[in-house]
Amino acid sequence: MIPPRLIFRKGVLKILDQRLLPDKVKFISVKNAAGTAKATKDMALRGAPLIGCAAAFGFALEIRRLRPSSSAGLQRVARGTAALLKAARPTAVALFYAADRMMNKALAFAAEKPGKFSTAAVKELIALIDREARLVTSEDEAACLAMGNFGEALLKNNCVIMTHCNAGALATMGIGTAVGVITAAHRRGKIKRAYSCETRPYLQGARLTIWELMREGVPAELITDNMAAHIIKTCGVNAVVVGADRIAANGDTANKIGTYGLAVIARHHKIPFYVAAPTPTIDLRTPDGEAIVIEERSAQEVTFIKGSRIAPAGVKVRHPAFDVTPAGLITALITEKGVISPVTRANIRTNLSN
Ligand code: MRU
Repeated sequence: MIPPRLIFRKGVLKILDQRLLPDKVKFISVKNAAGTAKATKDMALRGAPLIGCAAAFGFALEIRRLRPSSSAGLQRVARGTAALLKAARPTAVALFYAADRMMNKALAFAAEKPGKFSTAAVKELIALIDREARLVTSEDEAACLAMGNFGEALLKNNCVIMTHCNAGALATMGIGTAVGVITAAHRRGKIKRAYSCETRPYLQGARLTIWELMREGVPAELITDNMAAHIIKTCGVNAVVVGADRIAANGDTANKIGTYGLAVIARHHKIPFYVAAPTPTIDLRTPDGEAIVIEERSAQEVTFIKGSRIAPAGVKVRHPAFDVTPAGLITALITEKGVISPVTRANIRTNLSN
């Protein structure tokens, strides 16, 4: 079993500190939206759907803490809190989806109750916002299960599969997206072996994914990123499955840096390349991959590993945290609503309207 990632209770959000995994299972506690945003920015929690769920809880914490007492006050708090949460990281659209959804719920309440709120109305507001945050989370959990079922049906028996970064339970409130597909297939006896790329520089594959796969009893091996082409060529890999941080309207997909390279290798070797992501990851307002904002993270995450310098002091560094895989390299998108293939603008729209 994977430990709970977020525990929301009595005005406190306990966050599993993923920076310490796999060595230590420890939680940090935050009591407001600023604390939630900081934990997100600092990678105590990460993974697109989980960032969204944390934002929903962070919003609920802020409403509980500030107890806005009028519709104008609520509007101000709702807009400010959503903006604060959305500033934490730029690429994963689930964060924007959840923050906006919570803000809109609060704004609708303000519109229904103009003027000063009674004590009962404040209580009602807090309960409403808590409920919405829990709904964001339970929808994510259900979406993971549905993606697992749709995704495993695409895989052959005796499947040898590769994944990148961490798109597992640790990145969601459920069984995960890409790793959820692998574990669902494993439960049906279909996985011969899973390969997890270590995912430089932040090592989500080495620290998190392989740990999850081992705990789930999936036969799995860890490889460094530069082994991927060789392993695909020589070890019978017959599918790649990854998650996503943002899928543009045309299907171009931003995911952890290194994903694009893996898609190119998969195409060269004529094996399917699947992206599993819940529908809040699809951003119809972003027309294509060029419009996706790619987060640039610190040089230190590249030049240091666990506090030890691995490159010369003063070296110039690039650290784009994500890359964009063109839709044409993606065999299918797996959402909780079904499988989208071929990946086209029209098929994405149809899936969303299911
Ligand atoms: O920087 P991270 O660890 O938040 O990046 C995570 C990824 O890129 C995942 O592959 C993606 O969020 C899919 S999570 C189900």
